[in-house]
Amino acid sequence: MPSSQTQFEYYSTLANQDISETVKNGRYPFQENAERRIFPDAMRKLAPKPDDILLDIGFGTGTILVPFSFVVREAYGVDNANAVTNLSRTCSRPNITLLAGEFPNVRLPRDDFTLIVAYSVLHVLPSREAVHEFVRAAADRLAPGGRVLLGDIPNTDLKNRYQASAVGREFEGEWRKQMETLSDDEMIRAPRSADPVSFDDRMSMDLMLDLRGAGLDAYLLRQDPDLPFGNTREDIIATKRD
Ligand SMILES: C[S@@+](CC[C@H](N)C(=O)[O-])C[C@H]1O[C@@H](n2cnc3c(N)ncnc32)[C@H](O)[C@@H]1O
Repeated sequence: MPSSQTQFEYYSTLANQDISETVKNGRYPFQENAERRIFPDAMRKLAPKPDDILLDIGFGTGTILVPFSFVVREAYGVDNANAVTNLSRTCSRPNITLLAGEFPNVRLPRDDFTLIVAYSVLHVLPSREAVHEFVRAAADRLAPGGRVLLGDIPNTDLKNRYQASAVGREFEGEWRKQMETLSDDEMIRAPRSADPVSFDDRMSMDLMLDLRGAGLDAYLLRQDPDLPFGNTREDIIATKRD
């Protein structure tokens, strides 16, 4: 992996490899079952309605996009070109539209989405500025009354607090054992960005301020510990008032 590669390019390369969908989505093979909990959790948090128009930014293998397409009117997904090709091969549904590109620099056919989700995406963006630009652009493309879920946001302060607890220390021991079982291909070797972003308490609060500054009602939510990184990541849900 060349050091100049961005994470967007890295995930584009992963999408073409003969590896499990879980690994393509930036998770470890032992998190496969936990990954299945993401869709029901996102359903609870976004509470989709039959007339909703969904935008899934960074849909990966379609973990959220595909099942949501059964409960909303239209479902749009943006990701790298390889992810678009792969999902169009395996899933053809009349209400799914896939677009290749790097949000927000991608042409979208509409800007009045009633649901937007970006799950496990913010921390792979190249810079702090890119994260803020992404979040403000997502807020901009939300219709009045719409909801956005910025899901699976890492937080090193949350992680430190967890790891300082007895339960966290025990979990850490188990985690290390599982990591030792992984083969080279199963390791996540995402490139470090030239301008690394710290995801911590301050960053979570700054993201909340971005959304509230854009006129949305934003709330920070804890994750269910049974989700893939449920003890150390959190979600933001925000609503644009009518
Ligand atoms: C860690 S994976 C998560 C995939 C999926 N959302 C999930 O949770 O299973 C991150 C995905 O975001 C995509 N991505 C990163 N930056 C993006 C951007 N600016 N616009 C669209 N997709 C992006 C990557 O290509 C990758 O598929």
